Amino acid sequence: MKVIVTGGAGFISSHVVDLLIDNNYEVCIIDNLTHGSIKNINKKAKFYEMDIRDTKLKEIFQIEKPDYVIHNAAQISVPASVDDPMNDASINIMGTINVLEACSSVNVKKIIYPASAAIFGEPSYLPIDEAHPLEMLSAYGVTKHTVEHYLKVYKGLYNIDYVALRCANVYGPRQDSSGEGGVIAIFCEKLLKDEIPYIYGDGNQIRDFVYVKDVAKAYLMALNSDISGIYNVSTNVKITINELFKIINKLLDKNISCIYTDERKGDIRESYMTYDKIEKKIGWRPETSITEGLKETLSYYANIK
Ligand SMILES: NC(=O)c1ccc[n+]([C@@H]2O[C@H](COP(=O)([O-])OP(=O)(O)OC[C@H]3O[C@@H](n4cnc5c(N)ncnc54)[C@H](O)[C@@H]3O)[C@@H](O)[C@H]2O)c1
Repeated sequence: MKVIVTGGAGFISSHVVDLLIDNNYEVCIIDNLTHGSIKNINKKAKFYEMDIRDTKLKEIFQIEKPDYVIHNAAQISVPASVDDPMNDASINIMGTINVLEACSSVNVKKIIYPASAAIFGEPSYLPIDEAHPLEMLSAYGVTKHTVEHYLKVYKGLYNIDYVALRCANVYGPRQDSSGEGGVIAIFCEKLLKDEIPYIYGDGNQIRDFVYVKDVAKAYLMALNSDISGIYNVSTNVKITINELFKIINKLLDKNISCIYTDERKGDIRESYMTYDKIEKKIGWRPETSITEGLKETLSYYANIK
């Protein structure tokens, strides 16, 4: 079976690609390397350096004739989406339509897409489930959610099945410290170098951090199953930014302080999500504790220095 992975040089995708290859899938990556790294690309994957908005995208799909598509390529920065919403929409919406058109031209069976918790705004109840009302606070939230509609439309029009995985804050090796949910990458890098990081607000914001290798398993299981529609991928474990900082300090046997700075505008106070739906349907659940995940992440950042 062949899978095209857009954004396959990026953080989450590169783990998904590794897992697909370990499970004997043939993988082709399409990435323009604006944010990902050539170092992340699995040597057994075929690589096309291309923008998902390129008019030649369809030609690659015609050559490769993928059975499945994992569409991860995206502009992922919330602040960048606010500064330049045209660029955000150009990549995340127009680029996605180009991918969907290419999918329909070769009868792709199924698309897996990472949706985002950025579509919920300040939650009206917790934990957030798939039925939670949407309240986008950024252009990024709007574009990530808009794609969920397009996926449904392409399923209706061309019978391309889809799974949208609404991922909580993903963390782990290969994450860029400027990315969405990149606080763990920032803390790991800073504390390893004995530098003092900033914490926005009082650090008591609650988040749900899910380990990237668990997320990659959710992609694989979604691909191998007959589920379709929208599913949360999360841990339902509450952790504050202060707690996170403390655990990383402890794992490194350090006692570095931090500087508290102004709260970021639009920062959500509390967010965690239930994964009941995907667990009931296909048995996916997070397997990596925050301590285990942080150990592996720290070891990655320590070794790339
Ligand atoms: N990291 C998280 O916590 C999180 C949470 C929810 C959803 N997501 C989604 O998961 C996906 C992957 O995120 P990530 O954190 O791995 O980000 P990432 O930036 O590491 O990966 C995105 C990849 O897409 C590529 N790309 C960007 N624009 C492109 C374009 N126009 N054409 C071709 N390639 C392009 C980049 O070079 C990069 O390799 C994104 O769709 C993101 O919205 C991430």
